[in-house]
This record gives sequence, C-alpha cells and structure tokens, in this order.
Amino acid sequence: MQESFDDGAFAAHLAALAAEWEQALAAHGFDAAVVPAGDSPMYFQDDQAPPFHPNPHFARFFPSDDCERSVLLLRPGAAPKVYFHQPADYWHAPPALPRWAAALDVATHADTAELRQAVAKALADARRVALVGPAQGNEFNLPLPNVNPKGLVNWLLFARAAKTPFEAACIRAASTVGARGHLAARDAFYDGGSEFDIHMAYLAASSQQEAKLPYPSIVALNDHAGVLHYQHYDRVRPPGTRSFLIDAGGRANGYHSDITRTYSATPGDDFDALVQAMDAQQQALAAAVRPGTSYIELQTRMHQAVAAVLVAFGLVGCSAESAFEQKITDAFVPHGLGHLLGLQTHDVGGRLANAGGDEVAPPERFPSLRYTRGIDVGQVITVEPGLYFIPMLLDALAAEPAGKDVDWPRVKAFLPCGGVRIEDNVLVGEDETENLTRPAFAAALAADTA
Ligand code: GLY
Ligand code: MN
Ligand code: MN
Repeated sequence: MQESFDDGAFAAHLAALAAEWEQALAAHGFDAAVVPAGDSPMYFQDDQAPPFHPNPHFARFFPSDDCERSVLLLRPGAAPKVYFHQPADYWHAPPALPRWAAALDVATHADTAELRQAVAKALADARRVALVGPAQGNEFNLPLPNVNPKGLVNWLLFARAAKTPFEAACIRAASTVGARGHLAARDAFYDGGSEFDIHMAYLAASSQQEAKLPYPSIVALNDHAGVLHYQHYDRVRPPGTRSFLIDAGGRANGYHSDITRTYSATPGDDFDALVQAMDAQQQALAAAVRPGTSYIELQTRMHQAVAAVLVAFGLVGCSAESAFEQKITDAFVPHGLGHLLGLQTHDVGGRLANAGGDEVAPPERFPSLRYTRGIDVGQVITVEPGLYFIPMLLDALAAEPAGKDVDWPRVKAFLPCGGVRIEDNVLVGEDETENLTRPAFAAALAADTA
C-alpha cells in the first residue's frame, strides 16, 4: 500500500523539529548532536537479525524504516544532515532514498567506517557534542557523559508528546490502515475463522507484513481475551465460540495506530450487551479528553464507569460507589486507561511533568499508569477502558472481604468470554478532541459497501 506523504507538511515539520532541537541543545550547552538510526544485531551465533526498529529521535527527521546504520547530524543554524548508509549489496536490496528525502541534506555512504569518519570530520570544530540514540559514544569519539545526556533527552521526550500536523496526519493514515484490517478481522470472525485465520485476514486487508506491524496483534477468542497481551494464534476455532477481542494497529511513515475492538459471537446476548455498555463508556471517556484535564482523573473515571457497568449487569450486589471504594474494580480492569502514541506504540515521556525532567508519579492505587502528565494540545493518546474476567485476579478478590459483594455465579457465566476492551486514539486540539479511530472505521466501512 502506498502511503500518502504531504511534502509541504513535512517541510514545516522539519522546520519545527530543527527549532525544537536548537532550543534543546542551547538549553543544555551543546552545539551539535549526533543521532544514529541504530541497527539490528544478529541473534547469537546466527546470521539473522530481528526486524530493525529505528531510533525514534532519528525517525522523526527521517520517517522510514529503511535507514539502518544511517546517522543524523544536527547543528544549530545548519540544515539537518543525514549520512545515509547505502551499502553495495547483492544479498539484500540496499536502502533506497525516498523521494521526500530531497527536503533534507543527504550524503550517501556505502561503508560504515567511512560514514562515521565523515560525521567526525563535520564535527571537528564543534565544542560539545551530544549523542542521542543506541550507541556507545566511542563510534564517534564522544565522551561518555555526552551519550544520551538525561537532561537533553528528557527535554526532547517532553516536547515529542505534542505532534506536528505532519505527524498527526501520519497517525490518521495509520488509523485508516488499522481500520481496514479490523473490518476484515471482524468478518473473518463471523465467518467462523480461527485466531490464525483472523490474524491473516487482518494482515492482508491492512496490507501489512507481520514484521512491520506496530506491535504484535492480539487476536483472542473466548477466555484468551482475558490474557491482556495474548500472543498465540490458535489454528483451530474452539467449538461454541463466544467472544472475540482484537487489539491491532497500523503504521504510516513509521507512525502507529493502536486499536482494540471486541465482539460477541451471538449479537443480542448478555456479552454483546456488555460490549455495547463498555463502548458507550469508552466514547464518553474519549470525549472527556481536553487540554488541561488530568489523565489520572480520567483513570479514576474509568474505574467508576466499570463500577457502574458491574452494577448494571448484576455482577456486584453493592453500589457503584462501594465497588469503586472497595477496589473491586481493580480486579476487573488491571491496566491503565491509555498512553501516548506516535513513532512508538507506547510513546515515552508520559510521566514527564516538564522539560526539566520532573516526573508525575502515578497514584498509589494505579502504579502502572503510563500517562500521568497533563493533557495538552497536540498530544495523541489512547483511550482504552476494559472489563475482564481474569481467574487469577478474581480468585484473589474472592478471598478478600469485598468478595462478598460479587455475584460469583454471574461472574462465572462471563468467564468463557474473557473480557472486553475498546480502544481508540485521540488527538487533543485547542477546542475539541479529534477521535482518529471512529472516522477511519466509518470511511473503511463506506469503502467496503461502495
Ligand atoms: N496494544 C497495546 C496497548 O494497547 O497498549
Ligand atoms: Mn492496544
Ligand atoms: Mn494501547
């Protein structure tokens, strides 16, 4: 699938990044930065390597995977320069320069040592050089304190949460890729497919090869939906299949989408009603994302929403307030409401309070919350409430005093369904939050039925 690429938006993006780095380097006393794309080392005693994932700091300037061993050099006042590694190779197709690379200053090198020498030569008059990326420092003769200096890296990570219009457009495109796959996966489920069949349908419809997915797709039938990062693809569909959860995304120019949907095998049954109830709660939570609001508060709101659903479905006998206060909901939703999204599925920097690197600690009750900083304009975040039936957590709850308020036979009836998660990605705007996922589904559906 040919990814769309807006040259004008990319030029503006590069200008914004150059200004961002200039400010960051000045603030930390550096007058140059070396940003290696990295490489993927071979498996032990093997001649094969895992799929290459570029350093995201590099990929922001050069949004392509085809850049192994290339290096970016940033010097305030000069255009970003890419030393592009293009070995003479007849075993593999050498990396090709994309058309849009014309917007960058590019020098091509066939030999890694020669490429590094060229970088070192360009740095000869630099006073203090920072290295940001997967390297030791000795490759470029840089002293150790200048390798991923914490202050500079935190500054960059804090800034990276706010996406440029180019980046937002890439995540929109990645959402379209994901939505196409999701519709095909849903059809494969209702056509009687196994987890493996559904997985293959997703890959084909979204035109993605498995190694290039943003993250390994979670394709879970029945109780597998209660294994949060379920990783297998069973070849046989279980008889009497009840439920289907799929968490799968797409990529566009390196940017990710991260989307989850859940379906009942029998529309109209209790589990279907539970999915609909969680879908309504998910939409309300997504609509509540606003600049200046707190994601920690929304996390609490998710638990209150799950408490309300537990009451509505007769899964607990107490009030929703009590289910929340007694932490009954913690057994039904053991993960956070969401996280930052971008060049990484779990984009880093979600706990940074400011560019100085101070952190906002997660609340005691939700220690694994990845996103605690304030919600701000330009951020892309996921909103992914869930409600699961996980035997390990339910057994622990049953042993607590709060367990007396749970209707265990009712819970047991849902156990074979595993659970529900609905996940959309939203872009925080000044005045309104844009849901990137729902329109992508609507467009893919319209294209399907046209
Ligand atoms: N797909 C992983 C997550 O939702 O965080
Ligand atoms: Mn996900
Ligand atoms: Mn997610």
